[in-house]
Amino acid sequence: MSENLFDLNGQVALITGTSRGLGQYFGRALARAGADLILTSRKRETLAEFEVEVKALGRRTVSLELDVRDYASIQRMAEEAQRIVGQIHILVNNAGCNIRKPALDVTWHDWNLVLDTNLRGSFFVAQAIARGMVAHRYGRIINIGSVTSVMGYAGLGPYTASRGGIRQLTMSLADDWGRHGITVNCLAPGWFKTAQNRVMYEDEGWVEYLTERIPLKRPGAPDDLDGAIVFLASEASRYVTGQTLLVDGGISTGAMRATVAKREG
Ligand SMILES: NC(=O)c1ccc[n+]([C@@H]2O[C@H](COP(=O)([O-])OP(=O)(O)OC[C@H]3O[C@@H](n4cnc5c(N)ncnc54)[C@H](OP(=O)(O)O)[C@@H]3O)[C@@H](O)[C@H]2O)c1
Repeated sequence: MSENLFDLNGQVALITGTSRGLGQYFGRALARAGADLILTSRKRETLAEFEVEVKALGRRTVSLELDVRDYASIQRMAEEAQRIVGQIHILVNNAGCNIRKPALDVTWHDWNLVLDTNLRGSFFVAQAIARGMVAHRYGRIINIGSVTSVMGYAGLGPYTASRGGIRQLTMSLADDWGRHGITVNCLAPGWFKTAQNRVMYEDEGWVEYLTERIPLKRPGAPDDLDGAIVFLASEASRYVTGQTLLVDGGISTGAMRATVAKREG
């Protein structure tokens, strides 16, 4: 074993949803720590630019198509990934989507889209990749949650249900697969500016409101997640499983604080 507990050289990480956003943040951090990457997206061509970037870091990459709402696509991707690389050490279940609507306006279709992508998709990708991990008696599975894994937000009913589910699913899978040498944890980011929430960041008033409620007084920056993802992917977290690690500037603990301070002050 390397003396550097955070060294990922010789390991392969598969990340779902690497065409943009947090999936690419996670990819950069894992590649810098030494991991080779399997990149996935519904359209393979959207991975081309990131593939070049990862190769420039000196890592090998494989790009595969994956639609996490399609069971056959998950099985195809998992078989191909394992055929190409042999062993997948790390899985980051990142692909996801969101629909913001008042609860009274949420349709059956909205609910299915968000839950099928975020929760059902994460489960079946984990299952498909864990089969190989069980055979190798080693694996690090990191499910991406959110602050909504531990708290509610108006207008985010289906999303919050999916992220709360991810947290619970993480605990169940950790219990199920620990005996096979697999750890399963949930990394729950706070607010990071990506395509998923760009519209909200265009509203300066909203950014000010958000910033006031974050104890560390700023939204997340792209590399704020690096330490947590490398920790959960590496030997450093070998005795940690079933946990949810919030990387949110403290908003999940301080949401009420700003309101109370305003009233008092
Ligand atoms: N941004 C935040 O502040 C934040 C905070 C907490 C949690 N999260 C979660 O972190 C993850 C990444 O968020 P993001 O902000 O980076 O979102 P994003 O910019 O919208 O990226 C979402 C990624 O998921 C992929 N994806 C969506 N539906 C898919 C499907 N059916 N099959 C396969 N891939 C699919 C997309 O790939 P293609 O469209 O190319 O297929 C894309 O790469 C999401 O699960 C999100 O809910 C985000």
